[in-house]
Formats: sequence, C-alpha cells, structure tokens
Amino acid sequence: LRVVVLAGGLTFEREVSLSSGTQVAEELTRAGVDAELRDADAELLPGLAAAPADAVFIALHGATGEDGSLRAVLDLAGVPYVGSPAAACRLAWDKPAAKSVVRSVGGTTPDWVALPHSTFRELGAGAVLDLIVARLGLPLMVKPASGGSSLGVQKVSRVEDLPAAMVSCFAYGDTVMVERFVEGTELALAVVDLGDGPQALPAVELAPASGVFDYTARYTPGLTEYHTPARIPDDVAQRAAELAVTVHRELGLADLSRTDAIVDADGAVHFLEVNVSPGLTETSMFPMAVEAAGRDLGELLAELLTRRAH
Ligand code: DAL
Ligand code: MG
Repeated sequence: LRVVVLAGGLTFEREVSLSSGTQVAEELTRAGVDAELRDADAELLPGLAAAPADAVFIALHGATGEDGSLRAVLDLAGVPYVGSPAAACRLAWDKPAAKSVVRSVGGTTPDWVALPHSTFRELGAGAVLDLIVARLGLPLMVKPASGGSSLGVQKVSRVEDLPAAMVSCFAYGDTVMVERFVEGTELALAVVDLGDGPQALPAVELAPASGVFDYTARYTPGLTEYHTPARIPDDVAQRAAELAVTVHRELGLADLSRTDAIVDADGAVHFLEVNVSPGLTETSMFPMAVEAAGRDLGELLAELLTRRAH
C-alpha cells in the first residue's frame, strides 16, 4: 500500500496539520505502510500524477482540508482518499449549518446567532449587540462560524466585551457565530466506520487548567488534563455516543469524525461542532480515543486507507 499523507497548506492551522501529518506518517510506517508526508501546495496534483498513490490521507485542518475544496479537487483527479466527501465537509465546516441539521433531527445544541459582517452595516453595531443579548443572554461563546483549533473562540460574560471578541473572530472569516454558553464537561467523541456503520469510540473528557480550552491549552502538553473514558455516568456516555453517531450519519460523513460536545449539570449532551479532519497530534483527542478502544492508530488508519485504495 503506497500512501501520501497530505499536511500543511496555507491555513491558520498549518502548524497543527504538519504535526498531525508527521504523526500519521510515523504511525502508518510503524504499521508497515509505505507512507510519504507531503505539503499540500501547487505541486500536489503534478506530484500525484507522476507518482500515483493507492490512497491519500488528508491530515489538513481548517480551510481546504475540512471545507471540502481539496476533496473536490481529488475527486476531479480521480485520487481516492480517506474521509468524508466534499459536500458533507462543506456542511460540517459551516458550524451554524451543522447545528441546524443536528437540531432538525432532534439533537440538542446551544442556541446561536450567525452574523455576517454586513449585518453590522445594515443594522448598526448597537442594534446587533442588543439583538444578541436579548436572544441569548450572557455569558456567550463567540466563534468564527467556520474554523478550527479554537482559534478566535472566546467566552464573553459582559456585553461591553462582545464587540472586541467579535472583531477578533472576523479576522478568521466573514461570519461570526455567537452561542449561548453552556457550563459543563467538555467531551470529544470520536467515530470510526470500518464498513459496518459508524461506531463511537470511548469519550475523551478535556479539563483545561485555565478553564478555557483554547489553542494554547490544546497544544501545550500539560495544560489540559484528559480523562479517557470520560468521568460521566454510563447513561450520559451512551447518549453522547448516540449523538456522535447521529451527527456522523445525518451530515453524510464517512470513515472518521470527531464531534465536540458538552454535558450540562442535568446530563444533557449538547452538540458543539464536528470535525471531518480531527487533529492527530500527540496532544489530540482522536488518538486518545483510539488507544482507549484498545486499537492501534497506525493499524486503524491503514485499514481505512486499504478500504479506499484503488
Ligand atoms: N481542528 C483541530 C485540528 C481538531 O479538530 O482537532
Ligand atoms: Mg473543530
């Protein structure tokens, strides 16, 4: 099996992606796969044409890797890859759209408002802030409507801090999503489909020392405690697993995904978002879930690649 692992790219998550890609290539090599790590740049298609791979693993996070565009290009070029199809990625990448789908099938997700930048011009900043607080109350989570690795994500407890939080999110894209804040236990819910339907792996609980799981807390070893399986009652774990499988299915995802959720004090599991190219770095949750399931990451990824290979 000859595999190309794509990483890097020109995204805000380039460094994370290079770290995921390096780990994936190492794990695959250990599992006996001929794996080559390659930066996703202008040489991508000529390179694949010159030395075709049996399958590609996309370890590219953020735009291009997760918004469906790279996958559409690979589809055109007839290159098989592990993971979800382009259209499903597009849906998952759009956090408000994904939340709408989850809510429409009976899932729980915090109330939200999605605000394109033009809204401020049309309504005026004061009216926008009033609308948000009237609709959602405080505290709030402010996020880029599309993005990853918690970049730009902030918790806002005072209305006067809302404009600055929103402005910094607009650095990542044209639309900001403001969500009602839910206090609780944060879970990462990995799902794998090896041909017998999507299966949830053990939930990973994340407990950041600072209380906020931001970029630094994610990627600096020691700043977040992880508990696998999560310290939650069995019935909650069961519901969380069901949610992750439902999300995977309803959004039309394939092979692997990671749903992020939060469990409130009453044990309700709230959907936050789903990742079609979950982080695979040394501090990422997907590999922790695989290990907790008693599986070897390299062997699991090799199995997914073999299933997709020409
Ligand atoms: N966006 C990062 C890589 C994650 O979901 O793990
Ligand atoms: Mg994400």
